[in-house]
Amino acid sequence: MPPIADPNVLVGTSTPDDAAVYRLGPDRALVSTVDYFTPIVDDPYAFGLIAAANALSDVYAMGGRPLFALNLVGFPKGKLPMEVLAEMLRGGCDKTAEAGICIVGGHSIDDPEPKYGLVVVGEVHPDRVVTKAGARPGDRLFLTKPLGIGIISTGIKRSAVGPETIARAIELMATLNRGAAGAMTSVGVHAGTDVTGFGLLGHLYEVTSASGVGARVHLERVPVLPEAWALATEGIVPGGTRRNHDYLEGRVDWEEGIAERDQLVLCDAQTSGGLLMAVPPEKAARMAEALRAAAAPAVAEVGEVIEGDRIVVTPR
Ligand code: CO
Ligand code: CO
Repeated sequence: MPPIADPNVLVGTSTPDDAAVYRLGPDRALVSTVDYFTPIVDDPYAFGLIAAANALSDVYAMGGRPLFALNLVGFPKGKLPMEVLAEMLRGGCDKTAEAGICIVGGHSIDDPEPKYGLVVVGEVHPDRVVTKAGARPGDRLFLTKPLGIGIISTGIKRSAVGPETIARAIELMATLNRGAAGAMTSVGVHAGTDVTGFGLLGHLYEVTSASGVGARVHLERVPVLPEAWALATEGIVPGGTRRNHDYLEGRVDWEEGIAERDQLVLCDAQTSGGLLMAVPPEKAARMAEALRAAAAPAVAEVGEVIEGDRIVVTPR
């Protein structure tokens, strides 16, 4: 992509941020993102809920407030019943309604493989945009959903997990990051993002490299869905998770006692994962309190920002 000359583009393609930010005036900016993917669960309604929660997440991760959304749909006309499409869209409508916004339009194409996602447009004050740059040594790293969603999704595809685990994974993926983002903007952070395809460590690496810092992660403090440990031990791990792990080779120092299984879990590609925030140390206690009050699925201080450019993973 060529460099962007428009001075109103506050966040564009030159940084790995979650959404674009476009200034409309001195105290108003649009924040916009698009996300869509192929079904990750069998239930089309649940897929709609997850796709919408996932698309909204990038607006929340930037400190923005969603305003409205548009549907993006691929559907194999004549090969799947139209009720499947209706259920997918109903999931998207219910989740965006929960976020307090409407779906105001969209576009669909005939596609051999179903796809669903949304464009989400929101607003943010230009001075209060949360980006990946800005983390400082001493900051505490907070994570707001447990890891293991990618591994469990692969387990679902291979029929290796039970209905309770599937229900728990769907519930987590469909949980909006709105509450966690409210805590983020009210308490205040130096940097923030959401944990999705690159896994906890991949997204942490985006934060540390954009901020010119390193980080230490304490494995014991990282919340993980219990079933993911067993699946990872059996080698049931998504290809994307293994690619994340390969990419981070040479960028992460694994201390003694971090097994390959642990490394894969920390790199697990998430769909609609939680927020990852760099919180000034004096605000850490308030952040934990605010996240609990917002009923975030996890309230975990998983590590801290350090000097240098390495990510160090330590067992405890
Ligand atoms: Co994101
Ligand atoms: Co995204």
